Amino acid sequence: TPTIKLSGKNAANSRADALVVALTGPEVELVPGALPADLAQALAAIARRLDLGGRADEVRTIPAPQGVTADLLVFTGTGETTGPEALRRAIGAAVASLAASESVVVAVPGKDVAAVAACAEGALLGAYRYVDYLGSGKASAKTGPAAITIATGLAKDAAAKDALDRAVIVAEAVNGTRDLVNCPPNDLYPERFAELAGTLAAQHGVKVSVTDDEALRSRGYGGLTAVGQGSSRGPRLVRLEYSPTGRRGRKSPALPHIALVGKGITFDSGGLSLKPGDSMKTMKLDMAGAAAVLHTIVATARLGLPVKVTAWLCLAENMPSGTAQRPSDVITVFGGKTVEVLNTDAEGRLVLADGLVGAAAEQLDAIIDIATLTGAQMVALGNRVSAVMANDDDLRAELVAAADTTGEQFWPMPLPSELRASMDSAVADIANIGDRFGGMLVAGLFLAEFIGEKEEGGRLPWAHLDIAGPSFNESGRHGYTPKGGTGVGVRTMLGLIEHRA
Ligand code: BES
Ligand code: MN
Ligand code: ZN
Repeated sequence: TPTIKLSGKNAANSRADALVVALTGPEVELVPGALPADLAQALAAIARRLDLGGRADEVRTIPAPQGVTADLLVFTGTGETTGPEALRRAIGAAVASLAASESVVVAVPGKDVAAVAACAEGALLGAYRYVDYLGSGKASAKTGPAAITIATGLAKDAAAKDALDRAVIVAEAVNGTRDLVNCPPNDLYPERFAELAGTLAAQHGVKVSVTDDEALRSRGYGGLTAVGQGSSRGPRLVRLEYSPTGRRGRKSPALPHIALVGKGITFDSGGLSLKPGDSMKTMKLDMAGAAAVLHTIVATARLGLPVKVTAWLCLAENMPSGTAQRPSDVITVFGGKTVEVLNTDAEGRLVLADGLVGAAAEQLDAIIDIATLTGAQMVALGNRVSAVMANDDDLRAELVAAADTTGEQFWPMPLPSELRASMDSAVADIANIGDRFGGMLVAGLFLAEFIGEKEEGGRLPWAHLDIAGPSFNESGRHGYTPKGGTGVGVRTMLGLIEHRA
């Protein structure tokens, strides 16, 4: 992570390599904020002469004009609004474009803490680059800004400082998720993922326990066992726990307890129901849910939020081999339900069934799973909008609202009970595939079968996030979103936890 700080000095006098200023359209104005009014007007006049429109994703860099000390001036468009997400995207796009600059100063448009937070988050998310596997020459050429200054009149304000600290934690969680998703699957397999989770958790006071392949088999985790058995690298179930300590602000009622369950298929070949080669090319992304869950619980701990969180990473590699599960095998998942596996490529729901049953065995207020579960998600909502399904209208609405306020796009989707019959099996409690139409909803209905009752009776509020498309950006960079892993889901889940806190 680059270093980042607030500064109350005039941004135009900063000695940074580049100064970033935001333009709004369609009038092409510089939102007043960290720059003196006369300079802001002069820069806006230059922007108009350059024919800039202040449009979202419009970035233009010029040698700094009179009155600006930095070497370069970067104009970045916010579009017609200056809400937090417009600022995050504009500042993120600007910082992402500055591969050759060491230091950047961002003139915050606006005078409130929300604008400071959005600029800091946008800058840190935009500065992300995945360079772990580049040769040393290439890596250093692409490193990008190491020092970011956020120029604002609120530099001495306690709330602005807190907002900056939160922005760093959030951005490190999102960027850490991106790193895991981008990591090639020859180097990231279940055992390795579990080790990385253990190291990270230990650094932040999060408890970890790992169940290995032998223990999974003997304890009846039939979903993880079946999906993992085709690979030479066995499955793992990781349970993480964050229990707030210290400043115990409230004793009664007891702290809320949320469980997060993530799909962690480190590579999805489809198994014996093998995917065509083209569909396999991006299948290292299939652990994006587990990565998001890991980094969400770590961010929760770092923020010290007064919510108990347990996180479950369902890790396996889905491979074809002589030991792989066969279409028509019947497996018994954790808790005793039987599943007829008619398609080994519908594996995510099998590992999640184990995780959901395990998670729901504890006293909980809500359980949320997140998964790159279906190609049908992309058919329905495309690559930028994720889906939320739930057995509880309030929880679904709360997640959509958390996405809205944190800058992610999640859209509510139904779980129509009529589709359940399409998964009826002649030989088991349920089959792992059903109607092809509405495939995302069918997968959601499958998961719903594994949500138990609360101990005191009544059903446990549960929501399912399908991030198949949005987890991985196959096209060009946009806003603060790089190519490859996006880190989607972290901000929404963290937003929900903050809302409960
Ligand atoms: N991991 C895939 C879903 C996926 C597809 C994620 C494309 C991201 C991009 C999942 O395991 C899968 O293969 N689902 C099947 C289910 C089908 C066999 C019922 C699918 O969607 O085709
Ligand atoms: Mn699959
Ligand atoms: Zn999968």
